[in-house]
Amino acid sequence: MKLSVRAVILAGGKGSRLVGIDAKPLAPLLGKKLIDYPLGQVLDFFKSESIDGSISIVTGHKNEDVEEYIKESYPSALINFALQKKALGTGDALNSYFLSNPESASEYDLTLVLCADTPLLTAKNIKALYEKCLEDGVEGALATFVTSNPFGYGRIIRSESGLSIVEEKEADEFQRSVKEVNSGLYLFKTNFVAKKLKGLKPKGDKGEYYLTDVIESGDIVKPILSSDEKCFLGVNNLEQLEEAEKELLKRKVCELRDRGVRFLMSDTAYIENDVVIGEGSVIHPNTLLFGKTSIGKGCIIEAGAVIRDSLVGDGTVVKSYSYLDEATVFQEVKIGPFAHLRPKTVAKSFVKIGNFVEIKKSTLFEGSKVSHLSYVGDAEVGERTNIGCGFITCNYDGAKKHFTKIGKDSFVGSDTQMIAPVEIGDRCFVASGSTIGQSMPSDSFAIARARQITKEGLAKKFIKNKEES
Ligand code: UD1
Ligand code: CA
Repeated sequence: MKLSVRAVILAGGKGSRLVGIDAKPLAPLLGKKLIDYPLGQVLDFFKSESIDGSISIVTGHKNEDVEEYIKESYPSALINFALQKKALGTGDALNSYFLSNPESASEYDLTLVLCADTPLLTAKNIKALYEKCLEDGVEGALATFVTSNPFGYGRIIRSESGLSIVEEKEADEFQRSVKEVNSGLYLFKTNFVAKKLKGLKPKGDKGEYYLTDVIESGDIVKPILSSDEKCFLGVNNLEQLEEAEKELLKRKVCELRDRGVRFLMSDTAYIENDVVIGEGSVIHPNTLLFGKTSIGKGCIIEAGAVIRDSLVGDGTVVKSYSYLDEATVFQEVKIGPFAHLRPKTVAKSFVKIGNFVEIKKSTLFEGSKVSHLSYVGDAEVGERTNIGCGFITCNYDGAKKHFTKIGKDSFVGSDTQMIAPVEIGDRCFVASGSTIGQSMPSDSFAIARARQITKEGLAKKFIKNKEES
């Protein structure tokens, strides 16, 4: 038997304990947002169990920002929104969902409730509740866990007639000593929870409606005690945000390791959620891989490399302390140490970009080399062309950027500048120390530096004798 499920993610709270973050569901977390994680787990659960399901997100504080983000990131057909006008508690949040979906809510057999601030849940945790709800007579199930520090969580009070949940604020001394707590993940028969919500009474000085009060002794709501406390961490402050990120990072590293990525000191690497790394690659300590970065197979990413939203082809080596930002690097490229590849850099196969080289919005074609201390901006460097040490494209005239094109199989001597716009043909030779402001046809030679004068015996006039002075 399969039951249909509507997942309701509660994201209407202000999250005032998460200081410095405007919209709590959009708190940054390993390259994504806090709300992406419970959302992703629900989608995983629907997919892996072939559930007929959909998702509703209850928004409140900063609702427009949250809705805009979700609409941009997910297919709209599956997700809708319910507005909680005032943050009057988790019970009121779920009630807002029922009020905004008066008809469609009852079309689903089960209502799954998740908090937007529990990012470490897994599809397995949801599945355990789902299986319990398939049992005869069960009206709902909730995930609980035992923790040595239950502060802030609702305590699970078990008695012969069933269970109830007492929030920190209302708990007496005995109840506060209970270590089994409410995870905030529930699955209810829809008609059960809809009915119980109608009977909720406000509590405390803020007049909040607690969702936890829908569960009373006598109800057949089953607690599923999980042994993995980590899955249920609630993110209410910056320390918990950091803790959640560390755990997600650990999972990311394990997943990559399982796919054949080798780490030297994995606990020092920072790898965001969407990063892809191919088999046989080695990640050295203190590397930071951000955004949509994709690293191919058999690459070496050395210590201190920072790579953001870049593609790195198979067999490429990024040496220590190089910084790649929106760059596209093909196969077997050597980069760094201390290289800076800025947006729209394209380095084709077998390119070499050496130390203290900065490249911006330029394409280096197959086998070309810029090995030392150079700036290449708004340029093209042809196949197999060698650029010597200390080369500069003078691409900016104070108002506009201009283009430099250098053909294939050319040789550009050290300490050369090219004043753009300028075009150098194929198989050209530019002598060292030249300032090139005029284009060169293919197969030509250019030298543009002052002629040397040598005067024999004149050195003594210039060499100062230290003892005399
Ligand atoms: C809640 C539970 C607690 C449980 C804990 C697990 C209640 C009363 N308490 O406490 O038993 O141990 O989660 O992490 O449910 N929200 C709204 N509208 C509101 C208030 C909250 O949408 O008016 C949303 C929040 O955005 C958040 C979630 O509900 O995503 C949980 O709210 P929060 O204030 O963090 O509840 P806790 O105090 O952590
Ligand atoms: Ca919380």
